[in-house]
Amino acid sequence: MFISDCLGINDKGNLTIGGCDTLELVQRYATPLYVMDEQQLREHCRQYRSSIEKYYGGNGLVAYASKSFCCKAVCRLAMEEGLGLDVVSGGELYTAMSVGFPAQRIFFHGNNKTPQELTEALEYGVGQIVVDNLTELELLNQLAKSQERVARILLRVKPGIDAHTHNFIRTGQIDSKFGLALETGEAMQAVKAAAALDWVQLVGLHCHIGSQIFDIAPFEETARVMLRFMAQIREETGLELTMLNLGGGFGIQYLPEHDPKPYETYMDGVSRTVHSECEKLGMKIPFIVIEPGRSVSGPAGITLYRVGSVKEIPGVRTYVSVDGGMTDNPRYALYQAEYEMLVANKASQPKTQKVTVAGKCCESGDLLGENIPLQQAVPGDVLAVLATGAYNYSMSSNYNRLPKPPVVFVRDGKARVVVKRETLEDLIRNDCE
Ligand SMILES: Cc1ncc(COP(=O)(O)O)c(C=O)c1O
Repeated sequence: MFISDCLGINDKGNLTIGGCDTLELVQRYATPLYVMDEQQLREHCRQYRSSIEKYYGGNGLVAYASKSFCCKAVCRLAMEEGLGLDVVSGGELYTAMSVGFPAQRIFFHGNNKTPQELTEALEYGVGQIVVDNLTELELLNQLAKSQERVARILLRVKPGIDAHTHNFIRTGQIDSKFGLALETGEAMQAVKAAAALDWVQLVGLHCHIGSQIFDIAPFEETARVMLRFMAQIREETGLELTMLNLGGGFGIQYLPEHDPKPYETYMDGVSRTVHSECEKLGMKIPFIVIEPGRSVSGPAGITLYRVGSVKEIPGVRTYVSVDGGMTDNPRYALYQAEYEMLVANKASQPKTQKVTVAGKCCESGDLLGENIPLQQAVPGDVLAVLATGAYNYSMSSNYNRLPKPPVVFVRDGKARVVVKRETLEDLIRNDCE
């Protein structure tokens, strides 16, 4: 009935998550509130891990893309589930290291890593630095030399695949700020440059074609292109790369009409391509890494808000305003990302109206959605936005000096705070007199 398995309705007609009544959660922790079902997070990790076992005989790794939702608790959870980690900043790296995440299982991404971030990554012994461009390659070589430590690297390649998703979350095509293009020869130039450097060890390639992708074909085509490039590298340089990181991007269900493929289907399709292509090219199957983010954390989360005002503009629309907004979920304002919503305390009632859900920020574009089917909402109701586990908390801001909501993990009917609510004092903590 719901887009996420962790949701239900109890005998009071209230929405539940992980066996907890959302109204009780709100009473205890107030609103706005991020809630994540821990069991579902763990199950997603396990499904990916077991499919690596099944399709690559364990010759691979699932690196959770922490940008989708990063805090100490989720880094710890990924570590406990035996995953690797994709980080993209000194902050994500620091969070991971603060819980003792094994550095060898970390992939450090980014199109403009600072010298300080690279230095820290080297000091921590990060297993794979994913080099984005030639300037970074040179810089990393110098930094590694000064630490007398060889940096293990992958090169980020743009495979030239145009995945059909929103412009802002497409990354595999030539016009992207990420990585080195194949078509222009830039990627091969970087391979040769890396091979000639003393303080970097090129072990493989990385690519990521975008996010929220439903088709399997672009993933299969990407694997094919990347493997052919690895064969070309072997031919031109004699270098046999041993690792191929195929990125993340698997789509999830945000709306009832979305129909993402089960993870197994992606893994099956891509692994068939990998096996057959390697055979054709006479190559050993490389160590395969995948980096799912949204599909691990997204479906496991919801956000709960209190409805404040309901403003009906006759013949125009009805605004239902909540006590959060683009500060805790900027995705509608950024790229019209759509969500399913419901009134948590009327979860078993039919949705009889279509409304615009607005946040409380001083910005007309501060909307969480338009044309949203919803139960009759009145001030005081609790609004639930579903599948907000990815790119919500991690993209939140303090615009209008709104404190960030807390994150609560629920499991088997029990709840625990994993990120505290920010206080007003937190907001002025770094202000100088
Ligand atoms: C390099 C890289 N890997 C993995 C991901 C995770 O993508 P998703 O959350 O769509 O699985 C991203 C997302 O932007 C990315 O840039």
